[in-house]
Amino acid sequence: MCGIVCYVGTQDAKPILLEGLRRLEYRGYDSAGLAVQDGGEIGLHRSAGRIIDLEKKINDVAIPGCTGIAHTRWATHGEPTEENAHPHRDQEEKVFVIHNGIIENYHSLKKKLAKSGVKYRSDTDTEVLAHLIAGHFDGSLTEAVRKTMSQVEGTFGLAVIHKDVPGEIVVARRGSPLIIGVGEDGNFAASDVAAMVRYTNKVLHLNDNELASITAEGVSISTAQAKEVQRPAETVEWLPEDAELNGFPHFMLKEIFEQPETINNAMRGRLEPGEGVPKLGGIMPVWNDLKKCRHMVIVACGTSYYAGCVGRTIFEKLTEIDVEVELASEFRYQKLNFPPNTFIIALSQSGETADTLAAIREASRKGATLLGIVNVVGSSIARETAAGIYNHAGPEIGVASTKIFISQLTILTLLALLLGRHQNLSLTEGVEAIKALGALPDQVRQILSQDNHIQAIAEKYFKYNNWLFLGRKYGYPIAMEGALKLKEISYIHAEGYAAGEMKHGPIALINPEMPTVAIAPRDAMYEKMIGNMQEVKSRRGPLIAIATEGDEKIREIADEVIEIPHTLEYLYPVLATVPCQLLAYHCARFLNRDIDKPRNLAKSVTVE
Ligand code: G6P
Repeated sequence: MCGIVCYVGTQDAKPILLEGLRRLEYRGYDSAGLAVQDGGEIGLHRSAGRIIDLEKKINDVAIPGCTGIAHTRWATHGEPTEENAHPHRDQEEKVFVIHNGIIENYHSLKKKLAKSGVKYRSDTDTEVLAHLIAGHFDGSLTEAVRKTMSQVEGTFGLAVIHKDVPGEIVVARRGSPLIIGVGEDGNFAASDVAAMVRYTNKVLHLNDNELASITAEGVSISTAQAKEVQRPAETVEWLPEDAELNGFPHFMLKEIFEQPETINNAMRGRLEPGEGVPKLGGIMPVWNDLKKCRHMVIVACGTSYYAGCVGRTIFEKLTEIDVEVELASEFRYQKLNFPPNTFIIALSQSGETADTLAAIREASRKGATLLGIVNVVGSSIARETAAGIYNHAGPEIGVASTKIFISQLTILTLLALLLGRHQNLSLTEGVEAIKALGALPDQVRQILSQDNHIQAIAEKYFKYNNWLFLGRKYGYPIAMEGALKLKEISYIHAEGYAAGEMKHGPIALINPEMPTVAIAPRDAMYEKMIGNMQEVKSRRGPLIAIATEGDEKIREIADEVIEIPHTLEYLYPVLATVPCQLLAYHCARFLNRDIDKPRNLAKSVTVE
């Protein structure tokens, strides 16, 4: 959702900015633009649509200059037109600004500015920033931005250039991610490491209410109260190849096939087979309280929420802790009343999801201790939680989350196992769990080797407009996630349901035109799932079953069977997810959908 990339240095800015924008495409956007400064001149180029549309427009245009700011916009205020695309400028066309986030008091600011004669060119909230900064400019761009920050309410990651101060970019942040990159031939700023990872892996994170002046020579950070900040650069682990397709047609497929390694990465250095206890260094700062914890709340959005739902059932199995799972967007509006020593787990791939951030801030206000399970190192959630566990999964570029879901399940299992082993879980159970976890990567490989079979199933059913996914207990969240994957990328309507609830409604929909996907491994819910599958078949509904290998009974009932290897009951979700991902992927491919960038969706949702 909205991407920022900026460069100031000794090289031409145009190709660096375009390359950065392409790397941010996965975040979701509907227009793009850039402004490049050459001495006292600033060239502005924008386009509605894709980055390729912007490129076509400027391919043959000479855009000199080694300082520039660029943006992909995901429309919130105003339609995705060229005039609403960023950068926005002030009346005199001296200030050019790009912005992620929402200026909440822009109506009142706009009214005030209009009274003083300012004419608006766009419908955006961002444009007020350009006019305010221009009004405050008195030779120092940093000061003009600082003054503007004190006037605006809401969230922003922003970057500004000014005609009168060539070679300087000022960036500021409150609530939206902004990272500075320190390079050899210049310096960068971006909303996401992916935009600059090709040029540098040295980054400086800005905290909320901080701003920075960036030139070719260096970076100076200060607070909104004008206090200087000294901060050493950190090295990021991500490699440029992580953001390449490496021969796969889509990032989503690449990431599905990376999953055996994703599981290994989540477990690397964290397993102690002999003791049956994982090691999780990131939670040690809160360990003394955590091991006594009896109440936890997992807050998350989207796919991460479904991972949380699986997590709850795993915690129930392995620990003595009561776990609730809450949608972050609902949680903060509840009357929050926590028992002493409550831990909140924020589960988030990006670490920037606005609803999840708002939820944990509210929970912290009410006295809970915050833990984060996030993939992006140094992200807002990582920094605002007392302790946490990183996924170490590398970047996930496909908008529809796949490998991070699997990684979240793995990490939640490790955490539950660790806590369980300090409670009632026996050494034998611990050792058995670690053995089964260790087998998962190869078992996932085994499922991936059935890709052709799953593709053939997708080819048979992709034209059906409505699908049902059914599961029970551990399988219920997988049914929800399976349905979400299908609707996100293929735009087929799909519902995930607790199989036991089928007869309370969805059964009315079952007919030969509505395929059902049943998550039916050999777990404690198996017999009940068989009953539900028979109910589908007796109404002539096409039935695709995800079943444990060698299950002859299911073969007799279902039209199609995708086999998964045998594992412990609480690890079946990891294995049962993979066929759902591939099924969604292939249906979307047969429908010619834009798989990595599905319409209207964003990878990182930084507005509430
Ligand atoms: C967006 C993405 C989803 C993701 C959700 C939560 O909706 O499209 O793939 O599951 O945000 O994101 P998070 O980064 O908090 O896991």
